[in-house]
Formats: sequence, C-alpha cells, structure tokens
Amino acid sequence: MPTEWSDGYVAEINYVHGFYRELSPGFLALGALAATQSAPDPTQPLHYCELGCGQGLTTNLLAAVSPHIQFYANDFNPSQIAGARALAAEAGITNVHFMDSSFAEMAERTDLPDFDIIVLHGIYSWVSAENRQAIVRFIARRLKVGGLVYISYNSLPGWAALMPLRRLLVDNADLGNVPILKRIDQALKAADALAQVNARYFANNPGTGDRLKEIATKARSYIAHEYFNREWTPFYHADVVSELSAAKLTWIAPARPFEGIENLIFTPEQLGLLAGVEPASRREGIKDYILNQQFRRDLFVKGPLPLQAVDADARWKNTSFILSAPISNPLDATLTTPLGQIGVTAEGYLPLMDRLAKGPVTGDELAASFPHLPLRQICQALSILVSLAYAHPCVPLELATAARSSTDRFNRAVLARSRLSGDIGYLASPLIGSALAIDQMNQMLLSAFLEGGGVDAVGVVWAHMRSRQQRLVRNGQMLMEEEDNLAELRQRFDNLVTNIVPSLKNLWVV
Ligand SMILES: C[S@@+](CC[C@H](N)C(=O)[O-])C[C@H]1O[C@@H](n2cnc3c(N)ncnc32)[C@H](O)[C@@H]1O
Repeated sequence: MPTEWSDGYVAEINYVHGFYRELSPGFLALGALAATQSAPDPTQPLHYCELGCGQGLTTNLLAAVSPHIQFYANDFNPSQIAGARALAAEAGITNVHFMDSSFAEMAERTDLPDFDIIVLHGIYSWVSAENRQAIVRFIARRLKVGGLVYISYNSLPGWAALMPLRRLLVDNADLGNVPILKRIDQALKAADALAQVNARYFANNPGTGDRLKEIATKARSYIAHEYFNREWTPFYHADVVSELSAAKLTWIAPARPFEGIENLIFTPEQLGLLAGVEPASRREGIKDYILNQQFRRDLFVKGPLPLQAVDADARWKNTSFILSAPISNPLDATLTTPLGQIGVTAEGYLPLMDRLAKGPVTGDELAASFPHLPLRQICQALSILVSLAYAHPCVPLELATAARSSTDRFNRAVLARSRLSGDIGYLASPLIGSALAIDQMNQMLLSAFLEGGGVDAVGVVWAHMRSRQQRLVRNGQMLMEEEDNLAELRQRFDNLVTNIVPSLKNLWVV
C-alpha cells in the first residue's frame, strides 16, 4: 500500500541489491573519453552523488574501492537507507553518506557539497513529472561546471508495443486492498488469461506474449519496482535532453563506449542514412528507431569540453586495462549485446585478451605489443571489451594499493553475510575500482577456503547447509541425498579454486 511519503512509488517491497558497473568513476570517465570529451578525473578526490540509490550497494561498493572520493546517496525509503548504512558500518566505510531524503528534499538541502559526478540509475522513468523537476533542480544547484551526469531510463520507440501490457498489469494490480505480492500474481494471471483467449493485442504485437512469460519468471522485488509503480514513463531521447537542458546539461555520449562505435553496430545503409544528421543528440533519436532499444544509459555534462585528438590519444595511452572475466574457451565468435550481435573473433581479440590477462597494461604498452594495429583500433577493441565486461580500466597502482584495506573489509563483511543471505552477489576489486559478480554458494565456499589451515571447505559449507535444511539444485533438480550434495559441492569448490580464485587474485579481490 502506498504510504504518505512514497508518492505512489512501490514502497512495500524493497528493491534488489544491484551493482551497476557503469556507475563506477573509471567506467564513466572511459565513456566520456571514448566520445573524446573531458570528464572528472577519477583519480582525483571527487564528490559523487547517487540519486535514488535503492539498497545503496553500488554506492557502498564504490566507496570501498575509492576511499579518495566522497560518496553521497539518497533514497526516500528509510528501510533501504538503514540497510545501506548497516553495510557501510559493517565494512567500516567512512567516505559514504546515506540520506533518506526525497528528491524534493535533496533539491532544498543546504548542507551538501557541490558534486563532480551525479548518477541516477533506474529512476527517471519511474517518478512523477514533479519529482523529475526536483531532480533537475538538484542537478542545477549541485553539479559543478564540468561535472558529469549518468542517467538511465526506459526509452521509446522500443517500449511502444509493450506499453499496453504494462498498463494491463497495473490496472489489474490495482484491484482490492491486498498485499503487493498477491496483487502482482493476480495481475500476471489476468494478463495471461487474456493471452490465452487469443486477444489480438498479443497476436498483432509480436514479442508481447513472450515478454509476459518472461516477466512472470523475474524476482517479484524487481518486477514490483519495474512495472507496478503509479509513475512509469518511457522517454524519447530528445525529451530527456530537453528536460535536462534546464540544468544546463548537454548530452555527450552513451554510457557504454561501444554504443558509440557506429560502424560496428549499423549496416552501411543505416550509416548512410545517419550521415550528416546533426546534432549528435538527434542522431541518437534516429538510432533508437533503428535499434528499437528499450533502455538507454546516457552521459551528460555541464559545459562540455571536447578533447583534442592528441589529448584523447594521450589518455588512452596512459590508461591501464586488465581482463576482468575469464576468457571462454573457445572464445565466443559473436557476443550478443542489447544492440545486436557484435563479432569478436578469436583471431582479432584473443592475443589482446591474453595480454590483458597477464596484468594491468597501458594503451601505450598494447600499441607497442601490437605494432600492426593502429592505436584507434586498439582503443575500439578496448571499448568493446570493457563494454561487454571482459575488461576494465585499472585504478592507478598507488590508489589501488591505498584502497586495499577498505576493499578487504568490505569483502569480509559480504562473505560474513553469505551464510545467512545471498542478497549481495558482488565482491570489490580495488584494482579495477569496481566489482566482480560472485554468487552466495561461491561466497560461502570462498570464505571457508580463505580460512586456510587445512579447513575442509566443502565439509564446513555442507554442515552449515544441513543445519539449515538447505539442499543444492542440479539441472533444475533438488538433490536430496547427502552424498549427492557433497559431490555437487566438491565440483563447485574445484571450479572455484581452478577458475574463479585466480581471477579474484589477479584483481586483488582476495
Ligand atoms: C527502481 S529503484 C532503483 C534503485 C537503484 N538506483 C538501483 O538501480 O538499484 C528506484 C528507487 O528510487 C527510490 N525513489 C522513488 N521515488 C523517490 C523520491 N521521490 N525520492 C527519493 N527516492 C525515490 C525508490 O525508493 C527506489 O529505491
């Protein structure tokens, strides 16, 4: 049920604990660099603010990996802020400030610093026009000149065919004074009943039936927030550009660098059509029609300053990169991205990935190791690998070293929680200033493994599971017998030690 403070926003059920790598200062800086634009330097003692931080996991983790940056974050849901503060306290993070202020209150606060970076992920489409105005007021008052804004939102025309489905769900969920989870189930059932009687809406709008099935499989805490808010507005890119211009913001780039590599994403005919479409933000609108994408992540700047090509080259050359995910063997020939298929051939990428796997390497060193590749091509390859989470820019070694004690504390806090909850599926890496996804079972095994001293990690985890009457699932089947659970645990432990721990060590996570 909406409460007085929740302003129509779903507040009965807390949001998931997400970590969004696009929000790390290093990733944001790379997005700007790929578009040859200046952005706040993540090695400097910046001030960073996340609006609508949900459970605050992204901000907490970023604060742990970047003790030289002061992080601020708000969310009007007090139980989420209480949870975020509790994690910060457990991990001993002191450079983070969580506030249970609404956006309207944030815009009026006089006790905040000016910010270099303001981010809002999964907010703009889910709040009212008044709240969007409060966000714009906050940015207008608090963002420094030269400051960067990351914003994500549901986009049009990608959502067009699905808007009636979302409306159907909300209308059906409105009925009756019952708890939200029940209302969601009722709404999904009612929509499915409509699909079953061959309503033409589903037949004439391909993909809508599949989407309904997909929604039904998602965590209720996610779909409650994604689909069941009173407010829900997908935007044309141009309309977001226009609303944010009131805070003197200019669009500079998509947040994920590879989305700017047009010759990779578009056919020659599409490129021909895009040629000469100005300004760049209008091209984005046309691209959204070509790609029909449903979600955008954009970077804006207050006072954009394009980089000279020579300065941009120098930054690429000085930035270090490292492999952040194990190389699959054989390497996938194509990677499926939300924008379509991108060809990553073993021939073109494996040597580069092999080099990145050996440890931090600068753009300059890569250029020296691959003299037949022009720097531009190396930068493009890095943009693609970073966007697809195969690689990540590194934090300079002295900063990463200084962050090590804080990330160790954070990771210990997460591992300690793993016995009771699988909510936090990430560990912090000071070397990339970001996180690695690692699930609860691997966290429990890792925790026992790190105790060392001949501890039987599998035995420890199984004893814990048995005391809580937990069982493992293999191929969708719950394993009932002790020996089957032990065999499965042993297999997972071997995989952890052989494939995951080396990568965690490489990235200074353990
Ligand atoms: C979809 S969640 C996204 C959370 C987080 N950014 C993430 O991506 O994990 C939206 C968040 O906005 C918060 N929110 C909604 N309206 C708000 C308001 N007017 N003021 C402050 N927070 C608000 C909600 O409590 C919720 O945690």
